[in-house]
Amino acid sequence: MESIKLGFIGGGNIVQAFINGLHRSNQLKLTNTMISCPNANEKPIFKQYSEYIQTTTSNIDLCRFADIVLFAVKSKFIKSICNELNEHLNHDDKKRILFVSVIPGLKILTIEKWLMIKNENIVRIMYNVAVATENGCFCFAMSKLNESMKQSYENLKFLFNAVGQYAGNVTEDQLDVVTALMGSGPAFFCLVCEAMADGAVKMGLPRDLALAMTKQTMVGCANLLLSSKDKHPAQLRDEIATPGGTTIYGLHALETKAVRGAFIDAISVAAQRAQNMSKELETFENDNS
Ligand SMILES: NC(=O)c1ccc[n+]([C@@H]2O[C@H](COP(=O)([O-])OP(=O)(O)OC[C@H]3O[C@@H](n4cnc5c(N)ncnc54)[C@H](OP(=O)(O)O)[C@@H]3O)[C@@H](O)[C@H]2O)c1
Repeated sequence: MESIKLGFIGGGNIVQAFINGLHRSNQLKLTNTMISCPNANEKPIFKQYSEYIQTTTSNIDLCRFADIVLFAVKSKFIKSICNELNEHLNHDDKKRILFVSVIPGLKILTIEKWLMIKNENIVRIMYNVAVATENGCFCFAMSKLNESMKQSYENLKFLFNAVGQYAGNVTEDQLDVVTALMGSGPAFFCLVCEAMADGAVKMGLPRDLALAMTKQTMVGCANLLLSSKDKHPAQLRDEIATPGGTTIYGLHALETKAVRGAFIDAISVAAQRAQNMSKELETFENDNS
């Protein structure tokens, strides 16, 4: 199999998580990867995998090299990056590439306008940092894909399958919700983990023990839920909450503090933030500078 020529514009947390996952799953060796960002040459993780990864500070060199180019920068940088690509790449250069974006709120139509292409060669993806341990989750949103892009798309899907569960394809509007649920989700679980451990510390358990137990409890519960797909979380919760026992007392305390409502709000405001980011990017779009 010919190696997959993969390029990342941006080399921060979400790219490093993917690289770590690919290495763990033994699939990094199937790729010929290039990472471009201002400090790419200084980042230890890319040096560590230098057999398969080249670094550059030139987004143009990266686009000349890669068949798949993934945008993984903060949204405020993307327009100037597109302008930079337009200055140095011609239409055929851009037509050859499958452009992939993990940037929340950045619509396919906006990328098409900014890159001045209409080649059906853009895919949006959402995934989370759990790809680092091959426990990620990913999904795509795309409009029609050009026939010539099908192989690159299959390659992309193959690599992400090595580090996470494919959750299917969604519409771009749904991707805003997916961003909140699955992109931001690990941060929400971290907050739960920290708070539960704090509760145990408050009641006298050493912190390291409290944190270790909380993490393992989260993993155990997640595996239980995943192992029986038909089981609703409420069913598992009811099985644990024996009448008059400790769990129902704890659940009552959570309901009193409206924790359920707080999580519903967290997902909805995060999704709305993704929608607003789209609007902010549209404002950029109308700005010709
Ligand atoms: N972190 C997550 O869990 C997550 C999940 C889903 C989606 N996302 C999205 O993914 C994107 C990246 O997130 P992140 O967490 O990886 O951010 P990050 O850690 O801040 O990384 C951003 C990267 O962009 C690079 N960069 C800045 N300007 C650039 C330019 N002109 N050309 C090339 N690279 C440039 C930075 O380079 P230097 O390192 O050299 O400064 C850095 O490596 C964001 O849009 C974010 O919303 C993140």
